[in-house]
Amino acid sequence: MTKGLRKGLTSYGDAGFSLFLRKAFIKAAGYSDDALDRPIVGITNTGSDYNPCHGNAPQLIEAVKRGVMLAGGMPMVFPTISIAESFAHPTSMFLRNLMAMDTEEMVRAQPMDAVVIIGGCDKTLPAQIMAAASVDLPTIVVPVGPMVVGHHKGEVLGACTDCRRLWGMHRAGEIDEEEIEVVNGRLAPSVGTCMVMGTASTMACITEALGLSLPMSASIPAPHAERIRSAEASGRRAAQLAVSGGPKPSELLTPAAFRNAAVVMQAIGGSTNGIIHLSAIANRTPHGFDLKMFDEIGRDVPVLVDLKPSGAHYMEHFHHAGGVPKLLKQLGSLIDGSAMTVAGQTLAEIAAGAEDVPGQDVIRPRDNPIKSEGSMAVLSGNLAPRGAIIKHAAASAKLMQHTGRAVVFESVEDMTNRIDDPDLDVTADDVLVLRNAGPKGAPGMPEAGYLPIPKKLGRQGVKDMVRISDARMSGTAFGTIVLHITPESAAGGPLALVRSGDQITLDVKARRIDLLVDDAELETRRQALGTAYEVERPSRGYARLFHDSVLQADEGCDFDFLVEKKT
Ligand code: FES
Ligand code: MG
Repeated sequence: MTKGLRKGLTSYGDAGFSLFLRKAFIKAAGYSDDALDRPIVGITNTGSDYNPCHGNAPQLIEAVKRGVMLAGGMPMVFPTISIAESFAHPTSMFLRNLMAMDTEEMVRAQPMDAVVIIGGCDKTLPAQIMAAASVDLPTIVVPVGPMVVGHHKGEVLGACTDCRRLWGMHRAGEIDEEEIEVVNGRLAPSVGTCMVMGTASTMACITEALGLSLPMSASIPAPHAERIRSAEASGRRAAQLAVSGGPKPSELLTPAAFRNAAVVMQAIGGSTNGIIHLSAIANRTPHGFDLKMFDEIGRDVPVLVDLKPSGAHYMEHFHHAGGVPKLLKQLGSLIDGSAMTVAGQTLAEIAAGAEDVPGQDVIRPRDNPIKSEGSMAVLSGNLAPRGAIIKHAAASAKLMQHTGRAVVFESVEDMTNRIDDPDLDVTADDVLVLRNAGPKGAPGMPEAGYLPIPKKLGRQGVKDMVRISDARMSGTAFGTIVLHITPESAAGGPLALVRSGDQITLDVKARRIDLLVDDAELETRRQALGTAYEVERPSRGYARLFHDSVLQADEGCDFDFLVEKKT
């Protein structure tokens, strides 16, 4: 097999000359022949001034390079797109597939024998792993790690579960202008990803469960020295992979690995976004991801990890309690321990090596779970023929079975304009419905599914209502919220047919979400609607590619031409 700089040479009849040229140019950067004759480990640089979550990327890159060189390899750092949640318009999800394409093609295009992926902010690890699954070069993932917690007036703060809560208190006049400014500087006190069990933490845990990163790499806080040593160890391991040629993602991303990831996602009370990303990753392999399987796992797997937003603690506490290896140990037979990891150990071996931390209560044993059932359920019904998701661990028990009158918002804009209108016809028993916020409709499936409680109800003390949409929701949010209704309204799903005043039933136990309107009436409405559900096709550019190619949520919102064709 051709390795190092010889990899992927386009010879046009004279391979010797092509290599000669390649070497001549790279020597312009001062490399010696000794350096250039070694196995090459590519390292993605996703550092960016727009991405404070990746603020430690330069340090991690240095550590990975050191590890690669200590093991006799040659590190080559290259840039790819960086996506941060707060700075990605219209949504970071709109850009995830672009990052996946960028990463895939740059790994393919440039000579490297293994690749180290450094990422972490919500959409980055999914994009990078989707790419890695398609390229199938030996890959090791180095998450940037979670932020440490903040403190304010003796209280522990976490981004961004507490951002919403404290801003709400500010709006209600309980926190004044001066104090909210102080809080603003304390919510995200270090580089790294949000330290609650949001999407970033969920994906880092899933990455570890899939066997794509070293043990504990999901949870070591971003600013800790241990994080840097873990990066160095990852570099060393990558250099070994560059020589041995494996294990490759295709050897690690097996049906057992995806099942394990689903078990872990339920047990950590993970972000609903994780389901979309895991589906997208799995659909880059021949195995795919079955939402029914995910739901069934949720009936058997308890929630064991006590982290915000559904629990009490933060990622650094999860880390000090033993992290993912400890969780795997507590899950015991619910995990397929024979699954191999990039570290060269099986998951069972990693679980056996988990640290015992006396008195810790962040990672519970199975006989004392946070919740006896998993955190998320997959619903279906005439309103969501291809599924919808509810994170019932973060919802109100009294609304798990509920019938109410629909109050429909046509779009995110319509909702913003009317939700706080004192004349809005709405009661606490109604079901708030948002449409045109799906993958195609918005576009990019914004995190708009967390519909605010209408102000006039909020003032009466209403804290939660049933809210349904084809949107996503931030992994850091809380409420009785049905998300990812598929097909979305802009793809002609039944959500497009709902009218204010219709009755909608949510029954989480039966896994149903139904519109109580008979089929004949729905058909009449469909005829009347015609093609009016469609959104305008963008005239050019990436927006047009996105519009034409994006798949629905149940398929992971990847582009149709990027998924692995099932044989
Ligand atoms: Fe980057 Fe939360 S904003 S992980
Ligand atoms: Mg998020």
